[in-house]
Amino acid sequence: MPEQTLIAAAHAPGKIILFGEHAVVYGRPAIAVPLSDVRAYASVFPAKKCRVRALDLNRTVDVGAAADDDPFALIVRLLCAELGQPLPAWRLDVRSDIPIASGLGSGAAIATAIARALLAGFGAEMEPSRLSALVYEVEKLHHGTPSGIDNNVVVYERPIWFVRDQQPEFFSIGSPLHLLVADTGIPSPTRHTVAAVRQGWQANKSHYESLFDAIAEICHAARDAIRSGHAPALGQLMTQNQTLLSQIGVSSPELDRLCRAASVAGALGAKLSGGGGGGNMIALTKPENTDSIIKALKNAGAARTLQVTVS
Ligand code: PMV
Repeated sequence: MPEQTLIAAAHAPGKIILFGEHAVVYGRPAIAVPLSDVRAYASVFPAKKCRVRALDLNRTVDVGAAADDDPFALIVRLLCAELGQPLPAWRLDVRSDIPIASGLGSGAAIATAIARALLAGFGAEMEPSRLSALVYEVEKLHHGTPSGIDNNVVVYERPIWFVRDQQPEFFSIGSPLHLLVADTGIPSPTRHTVAAVRQGWQANKSHYESLFDAIAEICHAARDAIRSGHAPALGQLMTQNQTLLSQIGVSSPELDRLCRAASVAGALGAKLSGGGGGGNMIALTKPENTDSIIKALKNAGAARTLQVTVS
């Protein structure tokens, strides 16, 4: 077979957390949605031995020889073990539109795309819950103690209501949500902010538990507002969630600046999304003021903005 014959290809979406990040690590609910417009892609080609070529990182991983904590090698090994297959003589080319370490689920999306491409290559199928569990193992390398929200929303590709150690619940969206995602341009590994929250929680458990409870209440109200399509109420809940995230200590001057700029420009609400400390924020907009909010976000220092409609 010529070297470039495509055996299989697959992809997976990015994601954003709308409500409940960090509190979800402590058993509270969270709401996340897939980002269908930014994706990770994996393509399988014949090769002499099993390799993953991460095109964006300019890195090639020899799956048989890589260390145990290599995320590319881990998903390939887990998937093959699950299927009872030896490592195939394939090269997986991987690329992604999803910015790394910015709260958009790039790690889960890349692992899911690789797993799906392998499944397609083997002509095999897997239950989403099983696939999500394998991707969770890779998330552990990135995050340490992940709640499991990223692997679930990325694998199911549907808006989810998520509680740790439970199957995700799906729910309907009353009217489309017009969101802007804006990147501070400051990478912030989730592992760092999760560890900082853990330290704060250990030092003052009752305070942190009450902040997490308040976030949980917001999540319940937000699910109702999403179902009934009540955008102004949803925006207010986002801003309230942001205040609580600041109190937990995971916002940053750059995130605060972007949230403020979006609100001043007419956003219905704004908050950080994901691990915080940097990375991305989201703003809920009305279609008619989206352009002016994009401008305001750029003026306030956004490195990149992304317009998404969740329906
Ligand atoms: O940084 P992200 O988008 O991968 O999300 C992290 C969400 C946290 O709640 C902070 C951590 C977790 O594992 O749920």
